[in-house]
Amino acid sequence: MRVLTIFFLGWLCLSGALAPGAVGAPLDRMEPAAPGWRGPVFEPQFRYPAKAKPEMRPWMTVSFRAEPERYLRLLLAYALEGQDRVDWRLASNRVRGWYHVPWLGPGPNGREFVHGLTRARDFAPGELDAAQSACRQNWALAFYNDLGGAVLGRVWRPVVKGRGGPDLRALPFPVGTVAVKLVFTEATASDSAMLSGAPEIAANIHADSTPGDAMCARAIDARDKPAARHVQTLRLVQVDISVREDRARYKTGWVFGSFVYDGTKAGVDPWAKLVPLGLMWGNDPQLSDANAAAGAKPRQSIVFDAFPGARGLGRGGRMNGLVDERASACSSCHMAAQWPSLARMTAPADWATGRCWFRNLDARYPFGFEPGQRGGCGDPAALGKVQALDFSLQLAIGLRNWSLAHAGRTRLGAIALRGDELTVNGEVSLPLRR
Ligand code: HEC
Repeated sequence: MRVLTIFFLGWLCLSGALAPGAVGAPLDRMEPAAPGWRGPVFEPQFRYPAKAKPEMRPWMTVSFRAEPERYLRLLLAYALEGQDRVDWRLASNRVRGWYHVPWLGPGPNGREFVHGLTRARDFAPGELDAAQSACRQNWALAFYNDLGGAVLGRVWRPVVKGRGGPDLRALPFPVGTVAVKLVFTEATASDSAMLSGAPEIAANIHADSTPGDAMCARAIDARDKPAARHVQTLRLVQVDISVREDRARYKTGWVFGSFVYDGTKAGVDPWAKLVPLGLMWGNDPQLSDANAAAGAKPRQSIVFDAFPGARGLGRGGRMNGLVDERASACSSCHMAAQWPSLARMTAPADWATGRCWFRNLDARYPFGFEPGQRGGCGDPAALGKVQALDFSLQLAIGLRNWSLAHAGRTRLGAIALRGDELTVNGEVSLPLRR
């Protein structure tokens, strides 16, 4: 009961209406609502369950290799069931619990106040469609199911209780954990017919003084401060899902899948117009850039012909999302989730070092040092200095933000700040730049 009360208080301090209190709240620092704003205000769902409700998880009996499309559609139905698909208030879902990751508020790309979206990679001109002539911002909202939420609750419990930093011993996430990420774009149906009729959402995104040109608004202004934002309407363009799978354990332990919204499809229900793009359960370590150029195909990704060009989104034809960095792939980026963050997230262009981002690393083991700095990939010297974050990049960002606000000796190590450089036990922890 006491634990419950503490969680409830923690949550109460954070609910939208209490902007001044929210500044020092234990689980995030949120952007305050704009003065005079009368619309919805983001309320994070941090009331983590002590444990998940036993339930039948329908994708678990379907082979993701033999029936990838059916597997993905079952996951999407699970992710959408009972959700408030207008404001995405997770707490109003009566079917099952979904939970946000703490401490994604701070920083130039941090959670905006209307619906809690964080800035994702932009669409460069022409990337979405030939008709898209200007750069378009993309913003995302992610959440974990109850199995993931119970782990997040254990990681952050000492923070809620005021007893030091997050406790990473609560990881890894159990089999059946699902994370969902909705990506909304500033682009419109005049940029691409695929966006016609897409579900919309309001978000406080970066204000662009020169809209219509090839550059998107920067997240940081000329004085190095978070840039001005304004409320805009965005449209759903992508839904990403990651699942902890025991059938993928001999590879990475996670399956990543993605959907694109295609408004050119017939029908009235926009949620039925999410088209599966494919999935991946391994990084295809043998598929070098040279092999791919010579025509070799990935064998641990299944990518459908969802739209022209859908197969070219990940490196070497691996699975990737429409809004994601092309030199990478879903599990390649996510594999870099570790504490401290000793290596960059996105694979570099040259294959000699880039191949380290395409190992099949079990998600329980950390990525390690940036290859070439202290040794090769998987240098055992790194093992004592770094902990795996089980492929959760939101957790990596949340830990970084918490640490930036809590220098000193903590459960996460000895944290020091030099300018905006963060060191953990003397090792530089990198920001996760896309
Ligand atoms: C270029 C790197 C990159 C690639 C490629 C990438 N992601 Fe992510 N992903 C991120 C970052 C960074 C975050 C956290 C930031 C945020 O949510 O704003 C994230 C968050 C997520 C989350 C929320 C849970 C978590 O792990 O933090 C899911 C689910 C997700 N991504 C799925 C996918 C899927 C599926 C793909 C491929 C279709 C993919 N990602 C490709 C960088 C990447």
